[in-house]
Amino acid sequence: MGVTASAPAKVILFGEHFVVYGEPAIVLAIDKRVYAKAEKRVDKILHLNSANLALEATIENGVFTTEKGNPKEAKLRFEPVKTAVAKVLAKHGAAVGIDLEISSEVPVGAGLGSSAAVIASTTAAVSTLLNVNISREDIFRITFEAEKIVHGTPSGVDPAIATFGGTLLFQMDTGFRPLDIKSEISLVIGNTGVERSTRVQVEKVRAVKEKYPQVVEPMLRSAREIVLRAVEALKKDDLETVGELMNINHSLLRGVGVSDDSLEWLINAATKAGALGAKLTGAGGGGCMIALSRKDKLEQVTEAIQRAGGNPFIARKTDEGVRIEQS
Ligand code: PMV
Repeated sequence: MGVTASAPAKVILFGEHFVVYGEPAIVLAIDKRVYAKAEKRVDKILHLNSANLALEATIENGVFTTEKGNPKEAKLRFEPVKTAVAKVLAKHGAAVGIDLEISSEVPVGAGLGSSAAVIASTTAAVSTLLNVNISREDIFRITFEAEKIVHGTPSGVDPAIATFGGTLLFQMDTGFRPLDIKSEISLVIGNTGVERSTRVQVEKVRAVKEKYPQVVEPMLRSAREIVLRAVEALKKDDLETVGELMNINHSLLRGVGVSDDSLEWLINAATKAGALGAKLTGAGGGGCMIALSRKDKLEQVTEAIQRAGGNPFIARKTDEGVRIEQS
């Protein structure tokens, strides 16, 4: 007997990178989820198992032992999970051993927010298992704090989307605001399989901005305008405009140097196959692209991305944040 909780993955629909300089971004929860199953143990050990990553570790009296996979990677991936569990145990008041099993419907480390979804679902599963009364805001805060351990200064978008779901408008100085978007958004997500580092890509943009400040300044203003118009278009269910704005947004991202051959290849294939718009999503330099598509073209776009060497899957907007699946 245990408790299973889940939380959604995310895509950045508009505004990545420019958001670092204070411009707004639109982030969307998708109907692909991460699952965490928590069970009580008879001892005091925390046992962590990730099927997707083929990693397994135990933590006993603060001592971390890798049981399966690369120890460095295990530590990196499990450290925030351990922190989240410790925060729930602190609320519970007594030490309890827990078996935690994590599985994900999205590729890990591809900019789709899987790490925040792991922490949010873990927090929900463990607190329900131990009858610890916890609000959604608590889950958000714990997830955000735990993410900070590995990501330094994350914006907080991933924890917010994993916890609350839906569509968020995010801006550095004002934080996030839920957007009421009724239209059904179907995307094809194409994973290039090329590993990338968010930090490296953010640095790339910084270098371009420092070298050409007067060139990049209008691009930032343009990125803002794209987001504001996209909000209007999404509210009106005007997907054609949303697609066009995605294409322009991608040109800006290419302009500041964060696209690469693997992304261009998949984006061109999707566009030729009839996507309304396509762009990289997240940090770029590999990772994933997204293509907006009408329902009748979804299959064609998916096939085109596959033929171009990507790993595609269809995802839809979801309003469902973190939730208990089974207890
Ligand atoms: O690929 P991700 O999910 O790590 O997204 C990075 C988004 C950036 O705008 C490039 C960086 C940031 O902190 O907002």
